[in-house]
Formats: sequence, C-alpha cells, structure tokens
Amino acid sequence: METPSNPLLKITDIRKISALAKAQNAILACDNTFATPVFQNPIDLGADIVMHSSTKYFGGHSDILGGALITKEVNPFWEKVKIVQRVGGAVPSPMDCYLLCRSIRTLAYRMKGHAEHAAILAEYLLNHPNVEKVFYPGLISHPGHAVAASQMSGFGGIVSFMVNGDAIRADEVVSKLRYFANATSLGGVESLIERRAAVEGPETKTPQNLLRVSVGLEHTDDLLEDLAQALD
Ligand SMILES: Cc1ncc(COP(=O)(O)O)c(C=O)c1O
Repeated sequence: METPSNPLLKITDIRKISALAKAQNAILACDNTFATPVFQNPIDLGADIVMHSSTKYFGGHSDILGGALITKEVNPFWEKVKIVQRVGGAVPSPMDCYLLCRSIRTLAYRMKGHAEHAAILAEYLLNHPNVEKVFYPGLISHPGHAVAASQMSGFGGIVSFMVNGDAIRADEVVSKLRYFANATSLGGVESLIERRAAVEGPETKTPQNLLRVSVGLEHTDDLLEDLAQALD
C-alpha cells in the first residue's frame, strides 16, 4: 500500500489493512514516501515493511537518488535484502550517503514547513474560481481526512488540483508559473509542479487536467502570487 497515494493523495487505513493482512497471513508493506516518518509510522500501525524513496523528502534537495526499506524485525526477508545489498551491490554511493546523512538532520523541520505551506496553498486553490477540485488530506472536505488525522500527525507537502478546463489549459498554467519548476520529482526545498497524465502515458487514469505540486519552502506570499497570476 501507499498512503497518501501519488498523485491523488488517497488515504488508506493502515490499521484496517494490517488486520486484513494478518487474517490472511500476508505481509503488509507500506510506501511512506509522502508522509515521511515525521508524520506517519506504519510499523506502529501494523505494517511489516516500510519503504521510502530517499530521493524525495529524506534528501530534500533534489540532488540524490536512494531508497530505504525498514522491517519490523530481523527476519528471513530482511536477510534476503541484505544479501541483495552485499552480493548484488545495491547500495548508494558514498556521496549520496553523505548528502543523505546531512539532509536527514533537517527532515523534521523541513516537513513542518512543507506541510504548513501545503495547507496554505490547498486552502487558496480550494477557493479559486479557475480550479475544479483540490486534493489534500489536510482539507476537511477530503474524503480521507478523518483517517488521515487518525494515523498522521501532519498531512504532508503534496497538493494536487484539477484546473478548470482541459490538458492544454493545465499546461498553460504550468508554463506561466515562475517559482514552480515543471519537473517529475518531489520533496525538495523548491516547489515543483507537473501534469501527471503527461508523464504517465496513454493508459493513465489520472485526470488530464490534474497538476501535482510538491510545495517547497519558499515564502508562501511568493507562491500564492505566482499561482494567482498563472491561474488568472
Ligand atoms: C510514493 C513514491 N514512492 C516511490 C517512488 C520511487 O522513488 P525513486 O525515484 O527514488 O525510485 C516515488 C517516485 O516518484 C514515489 O513518489
């Protein structure tokens, strides 16, 4: 499972899925990349394995590639992963490790900032006449808000929204933005935006007018002003 999910910020009840998994003797793995351990700890909620793309918030500066798997206990699965690392060489480079260790020191405070800014942007977008729909689990109107509030201590820094109009209109908004770079990654200190359907290919179920924003740590006045001029 992945909660909040990419790019629609769907929320899945980790406790409930964990109970179902246990009843079937299945292993529950949770991608916690959007939440980070600052806001959500799936192992406490019943998951067996937690995954993070450390390329994202752990790194926080869009300059490394990496990932982390955390297991609840040292078990045969964990041993298998260690063998892939030792024998297959699936380990990060020394430079990536150095940057990651340095970045993790500020993870907790960066996440507070990302979540605070994301909430401000989500509220702004919610009230904008040229926006059809906003997806952010911190909004009371989000269908997963209650579950999110029960398992997260903050709602993260990703906001998706549907622009009134089609893909061309959504692309127009992206091209007018000056603070938000058009890029695929997320979780860095700088704000990024992307029309997800454009990169997910023809089979995608993501709405064509949906933009996903990785809300950065720039001043929110600048971000709101930029969004205003692009949407208007
Ligand atoms: C939720 C989530 N999990 C995992 C990944 C994969 O991360 P990486 O790019 O480090 O392979 C991504 C990247 O887009 C992601 O958004």
